[in-house]
Amino acid sequence: MNQAIFDIQPVNRFGGSNTTIRRPKEIACFSYDQDRRFSLGDASIAYYYPPSLPADLNIGFDTFQKLNDAADEHLDALLDTIVAMEKETGRKCETDVVTWRGMMTKILTAPFDMMNGFEMNATCYQGTIFIEENNSYKNRQKELQRNQRMPPGMASQDLMMYWGYKFEVLSVLRKPWDPCTREEIENRQNEVVNNSAQYCSVVKTGMGSIRMVLGGEVDAVWDCKPDRKEDSIHWVELKTSAEIRNDRDMLKYERKLLKFWAQSFLLGVPKIIVGFRDQQGIVHRLEELDTAGIPGKVKKVGRGSWDGNICINFAAAFLEWLKQVIQGDGVWRIRKVEKSHAIEVFKVEESGHGDILSSTFKTWRETS
Ligand code: A3P
Ligand code: MG
Ligand code: MG
Repeated sequence: MNQAIFDIQPVNRFGGSNTTIRRPKEIACFSYDQDRRFSLGDASIAYYYPPSLPADLNIGFDTFQKLNDAADEHLDALLDTIVAMEKETGRKCETDVVTWRGMMTKILTAPFDMMNGFEMNATCYQGTIFIEENNSYKNRQKELQRNQRMPPGMASQDLMMYWGYKFEVLSVLRKPWDPCTREEIENRQNEVVNNSAQYCSVVKTGMGSIRMVLGGEVDAVWDCKPDRKEDSIHWVELKTSAEIRNDRDMLKYERKLLKFWAQSFLLGVPKIIVGFRDQQGIVHRLEELDTAGIPGKVKKVGRGSWDGNICINFAAAFLEWLKQVIQGDGVWRIRKVEKSHAIEVFKVEESGHGDILSSTFKTWRETS
């Protein structure tokens, strides 16, 4: 097996603020509705409106309509959106990497997330590397997480997951605040929680010499999407987190901030609203975080358990290296084993592109 290895450690070699970053810019968007039907455009956009406090996140757990995401969706929705955009503009979307934001979050946080692993599939097509999550790995991880024993007195994994979605429902409106009636705002309490509906932003961004097109869900917009394409969008990421009671909780929260920051930074989401909840799932207070200020805060007032510059420099160096490794025909696996200090890349198929690229996408590119 021909294997290439990229060392994560020692991370200090990635220090300093010397990597150029391209500010993420939305180039297209798509939506899923409550029945998980795909459409181009912003049908499922949501508008932030603060929840009334205290907010009980347990209500309605018995009626939760949970999306079954076990099936492998590859990059299909993202590629459909790129095809539509290319048809509309008449220009090919030239970029080095196309992937979901979630994959890039795993790469960006790898220098400070020793515990977790990941598995992705990648292929090179017309000069672009396409990266998807390895679906069987994802399902295996979910199964392990589900079977994890919880300490006595702690809520189940399923209930805790529900809390996150319930918080989103309590914090957004389906249309801008202005024409909403008090009744509509208060009715959020009674809405059935369904996590199929999503708004996904497709952005052009980059690190170092690597240009990327990323697709990822955004929870809400603060005001409205601006009319002018060049103006940035005031996206809001919604998160819940356990109330911080001691030093240990503080360190746990600081580690969580790495994920919050990476996820939002990649799509250019400027603000994160954290709902702090108690052990029973009641949110008592909200905190607004400026995404750009999080790494500085962790370094200056926190424990300094991670460094955003190291993450960016590492990701840029890794992707530049990956561009040299993944060339020509075939499918590669990108893998980081839990607790390991390196990312391995090896070929799993000698020819073709596996199922990473949809036939719609290939047909379009081959005939245009
Ligand atoms: P919290 O983040 O408030 O816990 P996102 O924050 O990315 O918009 O995701 C919304 C919610 O989906 C999360 O809310 C959480 O409830 C659930 N979720 C997302 N990723 C998850 C994961 N890897 N494991 C379990 N639940 C997850
Ligand atoms: Mg979300
Ligand atoms: Mg969220």
